[in-house]
Amino acid sequence: MKKIVVAIDGYSACGKSSTAKGVAAALGYAYIDTGAMYRAVTLYFQQNYIKLTNNSEISHALDNIDISFVVNPKTSLNEAFLNGLNVEDEIRKMYISQKVSQVSSIKEVREAMVSQQQKMGRKKGVVMDGRDIGTVVFPDAKLKVFMSADIYVRGRRRQQELLEKGQLVDLEEIMDNLKNRDYLDATRKESPLKQAEDAVLLDTTFLTLEEQIEEVVQLALGKIIEAS
Ligand code: DC
Repeated sequence: MKKIVVAIDGYSACGKSSTAKGVAAALGYAYIDTGAMYRAVTLYFQQNYIKLTNNSEISHALDNIDISFVVNPKTSLNEAFLNGLNVEDEIRKMYISQKVSQVSSIKEVREAMVSQQQKMGRKKGVVMDGRDIGTVVFPDAKLKVFMSADIYVRGRRRQQELLEKGQLVDLEEIMDNLKNRDYLDATRKESPLKQAEDAVLLDTTFLTLEEQIEEVVQLALGKIIEAS
């Protein structure tokens, strides 16, 4: 059977990552969380006091950043590593969420990440989620899904996720962060968040995670049969 690229884009906290993980597991594909890559860059910039207005400092810093994903044998899930250190938990914290849209709007950062993502997906058989996968990273992806959901539902889901990691964050603060990131991600100059013309729109407001996964798996199977 032919392998395809499944591109999942959309607004923050619509369930892209959870859906992508489930779809990858069902298809036996690799899962790549591109948001984690931008979060890891943001963490590095914070730790090394990189000025976001200094292009040469940014380019130099990017040369020193190595991002990889390693499967945790206990959970079978990919975890993000920055220069050999597991940063999976750190990059999900609010102080990173508050800076990541600004960092990911920088041209040099995007070029470096997009080129790595294209290498990671070259052999196909990947499910990649982000903001520009169907428009910029893999414009020829066989399946493109664009996810959206009501802001309150998204806020509650993100609050629950953080709670499960031991972080109690106010719902208003989470919703403000999501709205702000959506605005910055959709209005930035470099590859803004937008639905690709050939993407299938999936509103997850009233869907369970299992339903979201099933919907995308069925779409993917249709595309795989078509391509084989
Ligand atoms: O998917 P996430 O919420 O973890 O992503 C964090 C931020 O990274 C998001 O606000 C915008 C940015 N991002 C991006 O610009 N392009 C991508 N392909 C993925 C994420």
